[in-house]
Amino acid sequence: MIPGPTPVPESVLHALAKHPIGHRSKEFSKIFCSANEKLKKIAKTKNDVFIYTASGTGAMEAGIANTINPGDKVLSLVIGVFGQRFADIAKLYGADVTEIKVNPGEAISPDQLKEKLKEYKEGELKAVTLTHSETSTGTANPIDKLISLIKETGALVMMDAVTSLACMPLDCDELGIDVLVSGSQKGFMIPPGLSFIYVSEKAYAAKAECKTPTYYFCWNQAKKALANDTTPWTPNVNHIVALEVALTSMCEEGIDNVTARHARLRDTLRAGIKALGLKLLTEDETASAAITAIYPPEGIAVPDIRAAFKNDWNMIVANGQKDLKDKIFRMGHLGFVTDRDILTGLSALEAVMTKLGHKFEAGAALAAYQKALKEKELCAA
Ligand SMILES: Cc1ncc(COP(=O)(O)O)c(C=O)c1O
Repeated sequence: MIPGPTPVPESVLHALAKHPIGHRSKEFSKIFCSANEKLKKIAKTKNDVFIYTASGTGAMEAGIANTINPGDKVLSLVIGVFGQRFADIAKLYGADVTEIKVNPGEAISPDQLKEKLKEYKEGELKAVTLTHSETSTGTANPIDKLISLIKETGALVMMDAVTSLACMPLDCDELGIDVLVSGSQKGFMIPPGLSFIYVSEKAYAAKAECKTPTYYFCWNQAKKALANDTTPWTPNVNHIVALEVALTSMCEEGIDNVTARHARLRDTLRAGIKALGLKLLTEDETASAAITAIYPPEGIAVPDIRAAFKNDWNMIVANGQKDLKDKIFRMGHLGFVTDRDILTGLSALEAVMTKLGHKFEAGAALAAYQKALKEKELCAA
């Protein structure tokens, strides 16, 4: 139960095991085009999407490298490690970056952003970077409100959706996101190795004026290749074959059902955790549907919790990152994850907490889980 790499369905594993095919073959182009079309459906967009043989960070760097000139003003909304990464990449490329930061577990509020935006003259702000689901804290930004404020300024909206795309509702075109990035080892249910970047017309216009050199990640090269149903460089063929299999199953489930499943996993897990008297890092209103961050009970150490999960239940939960190391533990519930996984995760959590001496009513998590699930089913009916 880590927030990526996530479990991989057997059908996807079989696809990965196939002999590689030529990346300039008609056979590959057919699979590539089909995956490309489905990637657009997942993000609800008509924008181009490029598939990079790189992890999510590569796509983040590509977003900056293709649009930002040294000296451009960039505002970065930082709610954790990955929001900071976007800001750091922009700084590295010479942008004049201002950050809005909040405490761990908090999201950026629309009021905070509104105030900050007043500091910029009209047309001065080139881009705003933000994270949808911040994996280091399990917090989700209120993107609808934040993005509509950013759109009023004319700045490019550059969003990291690495642990939100295919997990949380996200309509790229309705929101008007210019650069959207995600990665294969999260909601997409395939191993690490691919990232996706969706590029709007406005982002292409920024590229046309951008002096920053790019080669591997260059959108002009990628666009030219896309017109010929391929990629500019040798792609990770097997991953793309596997991606097409994973996307087919996601489209069969229906993207709205996929995100509804993730919301249910989040809410039922949170209900169980609360029933054990454990404190969550993020409020319900801003909780990510991909990952949940939990404080250990007083006097119980995070490494002991993780060790008991692993040794007793063969289950891995993640530690906190950077400043939050050993202060929280994180349970991932994205991708190839079902209600059964939450039930077993909560059962293991109860057993681990009992073993480590935390006091609660036996069976409390499972009772709360069942109640929450019932409520969800009633709502859905
Ligand atoms: C929200 C978020 N952004 C960016 C990244 C970076 O992606 P990668 O590790 O695939 O480079 C991650 C990775 O976990 C992430 O969770």
